[in-house]
Amino acid sequence: MISRSTIDQVYETARLEEVIGEYITLKKSGANFKGLSPFTQERTPSFMVSPAKQIWKDFSSGKGGNVIAFLMEHEYFTYPEAIRYLAKKYNIEIEETELSPEEKQIKDTRESMFLVAQFAADFFEKNLWETQEGKSIGLTYFKERGFEDETLKKFSLGYSPESYDALCKKAENEGFKLDFLEKTGLVIVNEDRKVDRFRGRVIFPIRSMSGRVQGFGARILSQNSKTAKYLNSPESDIYNKSKALYGIFESKQSIAKKDLCFLVEGYTDVIQMHQSGITNVVSSSGTALSVDQIRMINRLTSNVVVLYDSDAAGLRASLRGIDLILEQGMNVRVCAFPKGEDPDSFAQSRSLQEINIFLEEHSKDFIQFKASLLSDEGKNNPISKAETIREIVESIHKIPDAIKQEIYIQSCSEIMQISEDVLFRALAQINQKNNQKSTKKFIPSEPVALIKKTADSEAKVERIFELERQIISILLTYGNQELNFEEPISITNEDGELIEETQKISAKVYEKIFLDLQQDEIELSHETFKKIFYKLIEFYQSYQGDLNLEKIMQTDDLIQNEIITDLVMKEEQHQLHDWEKRNVFVKVRGSEVERLVSETILSMRRYLIDQKITELQKGTKDKQSNQDLLKEIQMYQSLKNIISNRLHRVI
Ligand code: CTP
Ligand code: MN
Repeated sequence: MISRSTIDQVYETARLEEVIGEYITLKKSGANFKGLSPFTQERTPSFMVSPAKQIWKDFSSGKGGNVIAFLMEHEYFTYPEAIRYLAKKYNIEIEETELSPEEKQIKDTRESMFLVAQFAADFFEKNLWETQEGKSIGLTYFKERGFEDETLKKFSLGYSPESYDALCKKAENEGFKLDFLEKTGLVIVNEDRKVDRFRGRVIFPIRSMSGRVQGFGARILSQNSKTAKYLNSPESDIYNKSKALYGIFESKQSIAKKDLCFLVEGYTDVIQMHQSGITNVVSSSGTALSVDQIRMINRLTSNVVVLYDSDAAGLRASLRGIDLILEQGMNVRVCAFPKGEDPDSFAQSRSLQEINIFLEEHSKDFIQFKASLLSDEGKNNPISKAETIREIVESIHKIPDAIKQEIYIQSCSEIMQISEDVLFRALAQINQKNNQKSTKKFIPSEPVALIKKTADSEAKVERIFELERQIISILLTYGNQELNFEEPISITNEDGELIEETQKISAKVYEKIFLDLQQDEIELSHETFKKIFYKLIEFYQSYQGDLNLEKIMQTDDLIQNEIITDLVMKEEQHQLHDWEKRNVFVKVRGSEVERLVSETILSMRRYLIDQKITELQKGTKDKQSNQDLLKEIQMYQSLKNIISNRLHRVI
C-alpha cells in the first residue's frame, strides 16, 4: 500500500493542467482552459480544465473529476497506478505502508519480476536496432514482413541473439537475481546450466493494460524449422495468459473512442492493422478467448468484431468466443477473411479504405454468421437446418437482456424462415432446462461508466434525486456563507393560542441545512449524496473556513468526484458558449441564497410528507375505518399545509 503521506504529496504537487496538457491541446479561456474532448470525437471544444479548482469536466461525455480521475478515465489506470504514475512524473519517492512479511515478499517478488521483464524487453529491443546480428537477421525479417520503423518502435519489438546465455549474462552482470530471471521464464535453469529461453527469435513484448511488460512472444525466423513457430513466456506471477490481451495498451484509447474493438488471432495481425491505421484491435494470442479477456474489453467498449481466418480452427475458435461475448451482455459481429489470408496478410497489400470497406461489408451479426455456416445443401436437409436453428437459439439464450433477445429472435425467424412462436418456445425450453440444472447467474463486470449510467437514468425520474442534488450543490457553493434565515417559531399569544411567527436567525448555510435535516430526521436517500453530504458537513465543522475542493476530492471514489465536479463546473459551462462574451456570472448571492436554501429544505420536507401520506393511505385500503391511521394521515396533511404555506412565503 502507498502511504497516505505519499498520496497527499502527489495531490499537492500534481498540476492538473500540466498532466492533461500532455494528452490534449489546451487553450486559455477566461480563468480556465478548454480543449477537444478525448472521450468523444468532437470538433468544437467542450472539455474544460479549471486550474484554480484543479478539476476538469468533459461536457460531451459527462465525465469529470480531479487529476487522478483523469488518469483513471483516460489511461484506464487503477487508483494506485495513477498515484504511481504521478509520483514518477513529479519525482516523488513512494513510501509504502507496512505490509506483513508475506505480503511484502509477494509484492517484492512481483515488482522484481516486472523489473526483470522490462530489462529484458529493453535488451531485446536494443539488440534489434544496434547489433550486427539483430540488424541483419531480426530487422531484415521485420522489413520483409512490411513493418515500418515507427511500427516496430510502437510495439517495442526486439530480437534475441542466437547465443545461449546472452540475456542471462547481461542481466546478472547488471545485478538482477537469477531467481527472478527464472521465475519470469526468461532463463531456464537446469542443474548448473543456465540457458536463455528465447534465442535467435524476433520478440513481441506483451504489455498489461497499464503498459507494463508481463511476458513475451517470440517467433522463429526460418520457415521449415521443427521447433514451434512461436515460443511464449510461461505463466508466472506477473503473466496470466487468460488475463492478457496483446495490443491492449496500444489500443485502449482508440477502442474506447471508437466504441468498438476488433479481436484478431495473432501478434502480427494487431501490428499490421495498427500500421494500416486501424488502432482498435487486440489479440488473444493463440489461446482460447477467456471471460477475463472479454471483461477487459468490456471496460472499454461493449462492441466486438471477431476477425478470423476461414480455416476450421479459426472458425471453431470464433464460435466459442461469440457465446462468451454474448454472455457478458456485449454485442458481437463476426468477419471472416478470404481463404488463406489473415488480417496481417490482408492488410499488408491494401489501403485503409479498402480494409474498412471489407470489414464493413463482411461483418455479420452472429445469427447471419451461424446461418451462413449451413451449406446450401444443408438448407434443404431438415435435420441440419434444425441443428443450426437450435445453435442460434442457444446463442440467443446467452444474452442477458430480454429486449435484445426478442430482437434477435425476430431476426432469426426471418433469416431461417421459421415462425417466431417456435423460436420463443425453443428459448423457453432451454431456459427451463437450465433452471433445473442450476440457477446460473449473470455477473456483470462493473465498469464505472455502467454504474453511473444506471444511477443517472433512474435519477431523472426521481424528484428526490433533484432535491438531494440541490442540497449538495448549495453546500458546495455556499456552505460557508453566513446568512440571516427566517426561522418559524411557535409562541402563545395573549389568548393563549399557539401561533407561528418568524424570527431572523443568523447561521452558516451548512449549519442551517444540517440542523434542519437533522431535526426532521431526514437522511439523504442516495448513497453517494449521503456520503458527500457528511463529508462536506464534517469539513465545514472541523476547518471552519471555505471549502477546499481539492482536499475533498482526494479519494479513489470516482463517482463521488464526478458528481462534485458536475455541480461545481455547471457555472463554468457557460463560458463555453455564447455566454463567454457576455461574461455572465450566474452565481446568486445574499438573500437569493437564503431563499434557495429555505426553499430546497421545505420542498424536501413536503416531498417526504407526501410520500408518507401515500404510504399511509395504502394501509387504509386494507383495513377499513382504522381510526388511528386516519388520524395520522390528517396530522401529516396539516403538516403539509403548514409547509406549503411557508414555501409560498419563501417563493
Ligand atoms: N501461436 C503460438 N504458438 C504457436 C503458434 C501460434 O503462441 N506455435 C499464437 C501466436 O500468438 C500467434 C497466434 O497464435 O500470433 C496465431 O497463430 P498463427 O495464425 O499461426 O500465426 P500468425 O499470427 O499468422 O503469425 P505469422 O504471420 O508470423 O505466421
Ligand atoms: Mn500470419
